[in-house]
Amino acid sequence: MHRAVLETAHAIAAKYLEEVASRHVGGMAARESLKAALGGPLPKNGTDPVVVLNDLATCADPGIVASAGPRYFGFVTGGAVPVTVAADWLASAWDQNTCLYVMSPAAAAIEDAVSGWILELLGLPRGASVGFVTGCHMANFTCLAAARHAVLRRLGWNVETQGLQRAPRIRVIAGGDVHVSAVSALRYLGFGTDEIDLIPVDAQGRMRADALDAALRRSDAPTIVCTQAGNVSTGACDPLDAIVKSAHAKGAWVHVDGAFGLWAGAVPELRALVEGIEGADSWATDAHKWLNVPYDSGLAIVADAAPHRAAMSMKASYLQRGADEERAGGDWVPESSRRARVLPLYALFRSLGGDGIAAIVRRNCMLARRMADRLSAESGISILNDVVLNQVLVRFIDDHTTGRVITAVQAEGTCWAGGVMWRNNQAMRISVSNWSTTEADIDRSADAILNCFRASSQEPS
Ligand SMILES: Cc1ncc(COP(=O)(O)O)c(C=O)c1O
Repeated sequence: MHRAVLETAHAIAAKYLEEVASRHVGGMAARESLKAALGGPLPKNGTDPVVVLNDLATCADPGIVASAGPRYFGFVTGGAVPVTVAADWLASAWDQNTCLYVMSPAAAAIEDAVSGWILELLGLPRGASVGFVTGCHMANFTCLAAARHAVLRRLGWNVETQGLQRAPRIRVIAGGDVHVSAVSALRYLGFGTDEIDLIPVDAQGRMRADALDAALRRSDAPTIVCTQAGNVSTGACDPLDAIVKSAHAKGAWVHVDGAFGLWAGAVPELRALVEGIEGADSWATDAHKWLNVPYDSGLAIVADAAPHRAAMSMKASYLQRGADEERAGGDWVPESSRRARVLPLYALFRSLGGDGIAAIVRRNCMLARRMADRLSAESGISILNDVVLNQVLVRFIDDHTTGRVITAVQAEGTCWAGGVMWRNNQAMRISVSNWSTTEADIDRSADAILNCFRASSQEPS
């Protein structure tokens, strides 16, 4: 019976992935019809598991977004390289808990191996500690908890035991375009949003190093500087080299939110964008974006393992560790019980190698420029950002037309892109982050977008 159930899921998944590139990219179903198909009263009696899976696939299908496919350009969304999907199935089948070494020696060894590979590929300090978390949001939380610990510890205050309420005041500095997840992480850590000292940014959203320097000079308080590699709209990276130098001169902790931009560090010709990154104190990134492993997968990396462990680890008499336990996965993450989400990463690194991973990043950036060139050749269309990475901001004449084109593109279904307000201008936001996107996908999508634009500009407003 086990086999029949697993083979049913395998057949559904394989068919889906074979067809994903030819689906209408957006979700097709209305909310009410999905609720009717998938909801209903609490099932009182059981149903044959094979029937359950087949029904699930049929009923969910109209509401499935082809975000794993090559022409989904929404948000910043990676697909999943097939071997990583397969390894993810193993994570579920083996169902390992990666909290302690004794719970899964294999998962602990794999986390160790993959940590080393990640640090090497990104050119980060080899002694840094790595936590395998759900995404960059939790990675930001984890790293900033380590930062909070470290800057107070230097003043003799242990925030883990003494708390924050009577602690010396910490100053938190971030660029004006700080990602909302870093702000949210700071909130979880006891910092109010009004307390964040926002530094002016340039036209691409990069923190201005001169303004940061001036702000740093204004106070000697323990300081955390939250920087960004990869602005969520433009892809621009803060001038990390200058930031690290002036922040460290003042004893501040430098955190880098590099959900996708950190991976520029893996590509020699893009590395200049993140020059100086190795000098920071902590780095948060996603694997489910540019590493193209399935959700959910993020990485919290801290140069000095001690504050990382101090901020995250727990002790209880029943959580007994083996005598030879070096690594407990739970020491580096906010969760205790946790799946072996490192397995897809292991499979990715083994099957593509560092060069193969870098090739995805490089190709996506090239394709983003191709998209920008195709669209900007049309009169009435402008590209609002410098396309330095994989992000393209497109404006169609004015706010109204841009909104109409976004709606039309989503309904047409060749590709999917969302919208953003960029410096008070409505823009279409295109993010090329999928391992399987080709030049042909870009050309087909550009044609579809151009057709929607031409049709929208002819309609009465
Ligand atoms: C710069 C940046 N930081 C953090 C995040 C949050 O990542 P996640 O939603 O994967 O946790 C994102 C998501 O797009 C991002 O672009």
